[in-house]
Amino acid sequence: MKATDLLKKQHKSVKALFKKVENTEDARRRRQLMDEITNELKIHTKIEEEIFYPAVREIGTSKAEELVDESFEEHHVVDLVLAELPKVDPEDDRFAAKMTVLSELVQHHADEEEEEMFPMCEKKLGRERLQQLGEQMQQMAESGQRRAA
Ligand SMILES: [Fe+2]
Ligand SMILES: [Fe+2]
Repeated sequence: MKATDLLKKQHKSVKALFKKVENTEDARRRRQLMDEITNELKIHTKIEEEIFYPAVREIGTSKAEELVDESFEEHHVVDLVLAELPKVDPEDDRFAAKMTVLSELVQHHADEEEEEMFPMCEKKLGRERLQQLGEQMQQMAESGQRRAA
């Protein structure tokens, strides 16, 4: 699968989990979904940071640099929120508030990738390179899932 398609698929999956957690009142289920979201986001940001973003940087334009730098910063903010979630009681109002903030952050970040970064990559990196990166990322994602299971 092309790298950009794989990443879009993962964005979709995590967005669906956010929807589920929003529609769930049960605290145990919320916690469970939160763990799934954390897990998926960790794998996703890892394969982007270790494989995809370095390839985007190779494009070599100042726009590419700028998008990659901004993305690293956004991942950093996501990490900060994720690190706090285990400490918050899923029945507490703060849990819902943090979930909303996290969901909006991820949504905004994923939209930017899909609207700006990915189209640029489709144009500049070419099909073959994207395919090859996709395979590498798939492998890393699968070994990450095995470790988490
Ligand atoms: Fe990202
Ligand atoms: Fe992403």
